[in-house]
Amino acid sequence: MTAAIRPFQPDDLEAIKAITIEGFTGVSVDHAIEKALGTVGDRDWKWRKARHVDEDVTADAAGIFVAEQDGEVVGYISTRMDAEAAKGRIPNLAVTANARGQGIGRALIEHALAHFRTKGMEIAVIETMESNPIGQTLYPSCGFQEIARQIHFAQRL
Ligand SMILES: CC(C)(COP(=O)(O)OP(=O)(O)OC[C@H]1O[C@@H](n2cnc3c(N)ncnc32)[C@H](O)[C@@H]1OP(=O)(O)O)[C@@H](O)C(=O)NCCC(=O)NCCS
Repeated sequence: MTAAIRPFQPDDLEAIKAITIEGFTGVSVDHAIEKALGTVGDRDWKWRKARHVDEDVTADAAGIFVAEQDGEVVGYISTRMDAEAAKGRIPNLAVTANARGQGIGRALIEHALAHFRTKGMEIAVIETMESNPIGQTLYPSCGFQEIARQIHFAQRL
């Protein structure tokens, strides 16, 4: 793994949005909603999913870390913290397809966990879709244990 992990900078925004859209095809609730119910309003699931990155930046830009390889942003992880509850959450993680399988995803998770520990968090949580075999393999191997399964419902109004 030759990628360096560094804090997010505003200039990284478009790159991590593109990585998000590429990575979450078939493994995001927004895409699943669109597949089940069709396009919603004038916006597709890609726009909705990329918006989560804007939310991550607004909520805690200092908690986003990017992986850079040969001067290119190839992945990122976002984090949120509830200091009172001593709980850190990882809302988004993605590595561009060409850079996968080199340990960058794992390194980003370890970086986020170290960040949480430094900030005094006592628990870390992350979610994955049942349709995502990589998440279900990678997260337990990073020390997470499965806690619960949730079912998402949606209806057209
Ligand atoms: C999940 C993701 C970030 C992992 O990034 P990565 O840099 O390839 O991760 P790593 O190289 O550190 O590790 C990948 C692990 O997944 C495993 N893996 C790869 N393809 C797999 C598959 N089809 N089924 C099960 N496990 C798989 C690898 O064996 C590896 O495990 P190991 O470290 O125990 O050998 C990347 O696949 C991605 O961006 N996916 C699309 C977006 C996504 O799913 N994000 C997470 C949403 S919950």
